[in-house]
Amino acid sequence: MSKQDDIVIVSAVRTPFSKFDSLMADIASIDLAVMVMKEVVSRAGIRPAEVDEINYGSCVMAEMALETDIPARQASLLAGFPPENISVTLDRACCSSLTALRMGYRAIRVGDAGICMAVGSENMPRTPHLAPGLRKGVRLGHIRLLDGLFELGYQAKGFSSVARDAGEVALDYGVTREMQDEWAVLTQDRYARAFAEGKYKIGEELMPVIIPQKKGDPIVIDRDESPRQTTIEALARLKPIYGSPTVTAGNAPPLSAGSSAILFMTRKKAEEKGLKPLATILASVGTATNPRDIAVIPALTIEQALQKAGMTINQMDIIEINEAFAAMPLVSTKILAGNDEAKWKELREKTNVNGGAIAIGHPVGASAARITMHAAYELRRRGGGYGVASICGGLAQGEAVILQVE
Ligand SMILES: CC(C)(COP(=O)(O)OP(=O)(O)OC[C@H]1O[C@@H](n2cnc3c(N)ncnc32)[C@H](O)[C@@H]1OP(=O)(O)O)[C@@H](O)C(=O)NCCC(=O)NCCS
Repeated sequence: MSKQDDIVIVSAVRTPFSKFDSLMADIASIDLAVMVMKEVVSRAGIRPAEVDEINYGSCVMAEMALETDIPARQASLLAGFPPENISVTLDRACCSSLTALRMGYRAIRVGDAGICMAVGSENMPRTPHLAPGLRKGVRLGHIRLLDGLFELGYQAKGFSSVARDAGEVALDYGVTREMQDEWAVLTQDRYARAFAEGKYKIGEELMPVIIPQKKGDPIVIDRDESPRQTTIEALARLKPIYGSPTVTAGNAPPLSAGSSAILFMTRKKAEEKGLKPLATILASVGTATNPRDIAVIPALTIEQALQKAGMTINQMDIIEINEAFAAMPLVSTKILAGNDEAKWKELREKTNVNGGAIAIGHPVGASAARITMHAAYELRRRGGGYGVASICGGLAQGEAVILQVE
């Protein structure tokens, strides 16, 4: 394949990721998506009509249900994309926005599309409680309300909470609660340092969310709302959540709202349009394994992606592994290191170098695109190199991309 057939990212942007009780939490995930979809094409100077396919990941169904369904179609029309545009909403849990990218990547590869967009959008705090059974009426007794956000797991069908699986598997791999708390402090410190260095400024991966007010100036949200400085001692005092032996509110990400979008096309098309690629996608893979192994799947997915790209982990300058919990980067880098302590340390130093979801937040459908664009922007700041971004999703699904920045 010639270099002209390479698939390159030309634009990538996200909103800040919110706190649970943020003003952003009142904005429908569809409307957050509209913001990034408009911004990602406008930054590249691409007209909406030029985008052939929009793949849109979102996985908190109860929040989307407030607007009925097909958020991808609704958002694309609201964002000014022409009615002929093809879109799909997909749910592969936290993997979703990278699955969206992989689908577009394939569509371009087989010649079905020229320019594709991957979107991820979620508003977890806006998720309503569900009142099953009301349609038939409640003859006698209390009305039961369900919270689909609570314990974020699949217990209704007999699976475990994600936090429990992650914590138990971490212990199986010798990754203790203390190590997970240490990682949480590290990721908060790394975010604070990167923020101070201007790595999270508006205009690169971030765009502001502007909330008009009835009176006076609009409220502008221009930074991630959850990062907080913490200490090992403070984290050690927190009780485990959702039946997990190790996962706490401190070494888990908060429940967030946020959206991300990535625009990509062939290098040939980018050149024709005078666009400088942000990154080349060298491989894009999806995987799945035994549902309990949610903390292991980023490692397995990275291994498959590296194999596909014909590369090794040693060639990666940076690694992004989504912090569904601290357990994920720790267990997965340990596996990638083949249990070699020195190698494990080296991989940890390259992983989530500017902080991860524990600090930034994890609006589940939007996070995979966030780690991907973050890897690309960080490599560009360094003058180029190779990076891998990988994420786990409910019941041990995985996605990974390998990027090159020239
Ligand atoms: C863990 C979770 C239940 C916490 O929700 P919450 O109770 O609204 O969160 P809070 O921010 O109030 O934190 C709870 C407590 O921990 C403390 N805390 C949280 N992070 C802390 C930190 N970094 N350092 C010290 N204390 C911290 C808070 O101060 C608070 O203490 P308080 O009760 O004394 O006020 C929620 O964020 C969650 O479900 N996260 C996991 C999401 C998830 O599973 N994502 C992965 C999907 S694959």
